[in-house]
Formats: sequence, structure tokens, C-alpha cells
Amino acid sequence: VTALFVGVDGGGTSTRCLVARETGEVAGRGRSGGANVLSAPDPAASLQAALTAALEGLDRSQVAGGVFGLAGIARAETPAFQAWRAAGLTGLPVVVPDVLVAFCGATPDPDGTVLVAGTGAMAARIRERQVVRRADGLGWLLGDEGSGVWIGRHALTRALTALDGRTPPTLLVDLLAAAVLGRAEPANELSQEFSRQLTQELVSAVYEQVASAGAAWLGTLAPVVDDAARRGDPVAEDILDEAARRLSRTAKVAGRGPGGGPGGGEADEEFGGPLVLAGSLLTEPTELARRVHAALGDRVRWMPARDGAAGAAALALRAALPPGRAHEAHLRLVGRTPVSEER
Ligand SMILES: Nc1ncnc2c1ncn2[C@@H]1O[C@H](COP(=O)(O)OP(=O)(O)OP(=O)(O)O)[C@@H](O)[C@H]1O
Ligand SMILES: [Mg+2]
Repeated sequence: VTALFVGVDGGGTSTRCLVARETGEVAGRGRSGGANVLSAPDPAASLQAALTAALEGLDRSQVAGGVFGLAGIARAETPAFQAWRAAGLTGLPVVVPDVLVAFCGATPDPDGTVLVAGTGAMAARIRERQVVRRADGLGWLLGDEGSGVWIGRHALTRALTALDGRTPPTLLVDLLAAAVLGRAEPANELSQEFSRQLTQELVSAVYEQVASAGAAWLGTLAPVVDDAARRGDPVAEDILDEAARRLSRTAKVAGRGPGGGPGGGEADEEFGGPLVLAGSLLTEPTELARRVHAALGDRVRWMPARDGAAGAAALALRAALPPGRAHEAHLRLVGRTPVSEER
């Protein structure tokens, strides 16, 4: 009988759960909706749904530990503990920052930096698998610069300023109207009356969606901006250029580590190890990812994140097993064959 370890990566848009055996072999996976305490409607229910799905067909009494990667850990413990008990598990999981599980899901290295652009955005310097410096991650209202929500919010603003004539026309008007209102708009319709009506409909729909689905909904518009940029819309390109600049600034500031001051200088290129790029906007082949890679330049050693839930499970394994065995399991979980098996 071998023990099972649970890893959870809960984001604003989706929650991923992975159950691992002591060897690092995957025993189960589950997925559900968002679990961010500030932007998701019911974090505990999402966590429980992902847990239950991943544990299906497995003996829950074999679960020997769990790690949850969540944003806002101070407030995230309550829904995490609630979900753990509701899934029929004993003991309690350890709750760590979601950026840490993103880092550990990409590399078994103990040190480096991670930049996340998903629903939200932040960067963290990691030392000995702990967060030692962070930048941004301040949530949809106050920060998360360059995130899906930030991009969606800026796209809406630029469409609305174009509609009342403050800024030049943009393809974003038609594409966002289609995405938000679910219908095609007559292209070239320029009358004031038409613009005023479309503005009112868009504004009402956006406030309603945010009220009912949470602010994470704004991030669902990020692919629309990607599409508009691919079609050469200068406003969409401008939004993504600015998002990439802000994300690279966030990464560089966090990368300086706890001793680094706020000023510029050579330490800019210092990430203390690999720079892990996480979150769908950076792991998918997006226009934003392309810009972030360009902004980071050739000298930075970056790697894409693979699986945050695997990183969380690796941390659970490391808390319970001797370092050598835990390391082999961690290698397997991040998709690198342990050296002992390469012979
Ligand atoms: N191909 C794509 N192009 C643009 N945006 C995308 C793409 N795929 C996903 N997104 C956006 O990425 C966001 C989700 O990111 P991710 O999958 O990293 O979620 P998350 O872990 O739930 O979020 P977070 O951890 O930031 O709270 C959504 O806003 C979604 O619209
Ligand atoms: Mg995430």
C-alpha cells in the first residue's frame, strides 16, 4: 500500500487537482471552476469539485498529505480546509502561494523566479521553495498589471472611448460587442445614436457579468484582444505592448530578490535561477507571450510552466518523504525522467 499526495492549483478561472503516488506517478486528475477568494463566486465548492474528481476510484484513507497553491493565502485557508473535509479527507492541507506551485510544477530547482499572467498577474523570487520577494498580484481592482483581467478591462475601456469619439476607431468595438453581447454588429455603422445605444448595452452587460460571475469574467475577453492584434488592430497591439512591458517590469523587480532595491541597474537580469513563465497567457502561444519573450531578451534563461497541480503535489511529497526519494518523484512530476531510470 503506497501513500497518495494531493496537489491543487486554484486560480481565478479554473482549479486543477492532481493526485500523485510516492513515486511521482500520477494517480488521478480533476478540474473545476475558479477558486480565487477575491474573484470567484464559490471558491470552496470549486476546490471540492476538483478534489472529488481527482480522487475518484482512489482510496481516500491512503491520502497522506496535500498542498494547495492559492492566491491570497491568509483568506484562502478557510475554503481550502472546508473543501478538504468535505471531500472526506483527514488532517489538513498546507496552503501556499499559487506562484510557488507554478514554479515547482516547472522545475525541481529550489531557487529562481516565476512570472504568472493568467486571470491575475504577479511575479515572485523563490529561494529554497519559498517566496522571498513578490511584485504585484494585487488583484483585479488594484493591480495584476498585464493579466487577462487587466487586458480585458483595458480593451473594454478602449472600445468605449472609441465609441464616444475620444479615441480613434478600433476593431475591438465589433469583436467585443460580439463576445459580450453575443451578436455581430454591422461594421461601418457610425451614427451617434447607434454608438450611444451600443455603449449602453455594453456597459450594462459588463457590470452584470462582473456582478454575477465575478471580476475573473473580464479575463475571458483576453483572447478577443489576441485575435484583434493578430488582425493588425493598432489599439489591441498597443494594449498587449503595454501589458508585456508591465509584466516584464514585474518579473525584473521580483527577480532582484529580497536584497534588491527599487532602482535599475545590472541586477535587472538576475533571477537567481530559471525564470518560470506561468499562466495561460504565457504558456499558450499568445501574442502577449511573444511580446514578453521579446521584452525579456536573449540573455534570460526562461522556461514555460508545465503543471501547477503537479508542483503542489511535489511539495506535498517533499514534506513527507526523504529528500532523495522526494526529488526523484518531483523530477517525474515535472516530466523529467529521474537519472536512475535513464540507464
Ligand atoms: N489562448 C489564449 N489567449 C488569450 N488569453 C487566454 C488564452 N487562453 C487562456 N486565456 C486567458 O487566461 C486566463 C486564465 O489563465 P489561467 O489558465 O492561468 O487561469 P488561472 O490559474 O485560473 O488564473 P490565476 O492563477 O491568474 O488566477 C483567462 O482570463 C483566459 O481568458
Ligand atoms: Mg493560476
